[in-house]
Amino acid sequence: MNGKFITFEGPDGAGKTSVMNEVVGPFKQQLGDRLLVTREPGGNKISEEIRHVILDRQNTEMDYRTEALLYAAARRQHLVETILPALNAGKLVLCDRYVDSSVAYQGAGRQIGMKQVYRMNEFATEKRLPNKTIYFDIPVEVGLTRIAKHRDSTQIDRLDVETTEFHKRVHQGYMAIRKKNAERFVTIDATQPFERVVADTINVIRQIASEYF
Ligand SMILES: Nc1ncnc2c1ncn2[C@@H]1O[C@H](COP(=O)(O)OP(=O)(O)OP(=O)(O)O)[C@@H](O)[C@H]1O
Ligand SMILES: [Mg+2]
Repeated sequence: MNGKFITFEGPDGAGKTSVMNEVVGPFKQQLGDRLLVTREPGGNKISEEIRHVILDRQNTEMDYRTEALLYAAARRQHLVETILPALNAGKLVLCDRYVDSSVAYQGAGRQIGMKQVYRMNEFATEKRLPNKTIYFDIPVEVGLTRIAKHRDSTQIDRLDVETTEFHKRVHQGYMAIRKKNAERFVTIDATQPFERVVADTINVIRQIASEYF
């Protein structure tokens, strides 16, 4: 395994996906096939189908542990089918969300328990964690306001309609994960203007994956 695995994490509306979309262009130009950009849950047929089941607003009867298991199943398939082959080929892999999201959202947010969700994900990933995780730091309310402002109602998924209390627990979960994995986490101030966040992210990736540049 000689590639490098970097994940984006942080609360809803922090800007992870927008920033990822923005950094792909310049990086692709420099790295070409040595770069893989992907997202969770999804990135392949099976995982996208599972994603659809998880995020469908009609699925109101979904049990929390079922949800956690589905995320872990989608993650497993994504890891085996997409991430590991890229890492084995020596690529730089940038992934929008990974295990930390489940520990924060299902473990802390849904209150299943962070340790339990982490253990389940250990099984799913055979303990394959990212080399580095970029944390997009933002107060819960700011992230939620951004989402409310920018998305029309057809784009809002099942997790977006959760209460502010849920999102506060997610945020506290992330804080605990970051503290426990201090050497893996790099934090970016996601409240800055978009261009600043993008510039910071590019700098951080160039630093932590300097061997690619
Ligand atoms: N730095 C910023 N300042 C202001 N608005 C921003 C900034 N970054 C992103 N946004 C806007 O906030 C909204 C949410 O961004 P985005 O979807 O990228 O967040 P996310 O972290 O991927 O959220 P989710 O976890 O829900 O997928 C978008 O409409 C985006 O344009
Ligand atoms: Mg996103």
